[in-house]
Amino acid sequence: MNKKRDLVPSHISKLKPYIAGKRIEEVKKEHNLLNIIKLASNENPLGSSPLAIDSISNSNIDFHRYPDSSGYNLRKKIANKFEVKIENVILGNGSEGIMSSIMRTFLSSDDEIISSKNSFIGFRVLANASGIKTNWVPMKNYKYDLPAISKFINDKTKLIYLANPDNPTGTYFNKIKFDDFMKNVPDNILVILDEAYFEYAKDNEDFPDSMFYRYDNVITLRTFSKIYGLASLRIGYGFAHERLINNLMKVKLPFEPSTVAQLAAISAIDDDKFVKKSIFENKINKIKIYESLKNKKLNYIESATNFVTLTFNSSDEAKYFCDSMLTKGIILRNLKGFGLDTCIRISIGNKKETNLFLKILDDFYFNVT
Ligand SMILES: Cc1ncc(COP(=O)(O)O)c(C=O)c1O
Repeated sequence: MNKKRDLVPSHISKLKPYIAGKRIEEVKKEHNLLNIIKLASNENPLGSSPLAIDSISNSNIDFHRYPDSSGYNLRKKIANKFEVKIENVILGNGSEGIMSSIMRTFLSSDDEIISSKNSFIGFRVLANASGIKTNWVPMKNYKYDLPAISKFINDKTKLIYLANPDNPTGTYFNKIKFDDFMKNVPDNILVILDEAYFEYAKDNEDFPDSMFYRYDNVITLRTFSKIYGLASLRIGYGFAHERLINNLMKVKLPFEPSTVAQLAAISAIDDDKFVKKSIFENKINKIKIYESLKNKKLNYIESATNFVTLTFNSSDEAKYFCDSMLTKGIILRNLKGFGLDTCIRISIGNKKETNLFLKILDDFYFNVT
C-alpha cells in the first residue's frame, strides 16, 4: 500500500504563525487603561486623505457589481502622474498583494530567492509559505549588504527582494550602491524594489527613486497604505516593463483591489496637500523623538521613514522597555519576530501622540534613573 501523503506540506507545517501586535481593546482591558496610543504599525497618524474619504462618502457604488478587474481608471491616473504607459502599471490588494502575485507568476519550485535577513516580515511570510529556497543574507549595520547579496546570485536565482527604505530598520541604500549592485544582476533575475515609504524618503538627495532609472528586470512597488492613510482598504501599485505586467495580469486575483479601494485611490493620488502635511508633521515629530532619545542616551537607527528603531544592549532590556511602555498605554513593536530581538520600533505619531509618548518616556526615565 502507498504511504499516505500528509495533507499539509512540510514547508507549511514547519512555519510559526505570525504574531500580530496586541489589539487596542485587549491592552485597555489588561492594563486597566482608558487611553491607548498605538505606535506599532507605521500607519499615517493624521488619518486618511480627505479627498479619498470625500470621494467614497459621495459615491454611488454598485456594491452588487464586481470591481473593474483591469483597474483602468486608476491605472490610467497613475500612468499619467508618473509619465509611463498604462501597460507598465499593476494594482493589487496592497503592495503585499502584488508581491504574492509576483511570486505566483515568476517562480517555479527549483528557483531560488535572495533577500535580507531582517527585512520586511510580510515578504518573509510569503517566501516561507512558497516553499522556494530563499537565501537570507545578513544586514551590515542595520543596512542591506548589497555586495553580499550579489555574491549569493547563482544560476537558480530568480528573484531578489529589496525594501528601500527598509522596514524595520528605516535605513536606505543610495544611488551609487544601487547602481553598483545592478551591474551584478543578470537581466533574467527579477528585482522587487519595495518603496512603501518612498514619499518619506524621496527628499534625501542620494535616495535612488527607482522611477528615474527603469531597468527591464526591476518591479517597483508602492502603496496607498502609508502616506495616503488607506491601509485598511488594501491597495497598492507597481511599475514594471509591460512584458512583466502582462504576465502578472494573467495571475493576479481577477477582482483585486475592491471598487471602494480603487475609487479612494483615484482621489488620494491627487491629494498633494495631505501628502505634504503628512511628510512635514512626520519630520517635525521625528526630530522631537530623536532629541528626547539622545538626551536619554538611548541608541536608535537614523530613519528615512515614519518610524524609528531603538537598539538595546540585550533582548531583556528591549523587552523590559516595550512591556513598560505597554503598561502606560503605548503600544510599540518588539522586533523579535523580525530577528532583531534587541530592537524596538516606534511608529511616529501625530503631535498629540508624540508629546504624550515623550512625556511618558520622560517619566519612565526619571523613575528608573
Ligand atoms: C516595506 C513594506 N512593504 C510593504 C508593506 C505593506 O504594504 P501594503 O499595505 O501596501 O500591503 C509594508 C507595511 O508595513 C512595509 O513596511
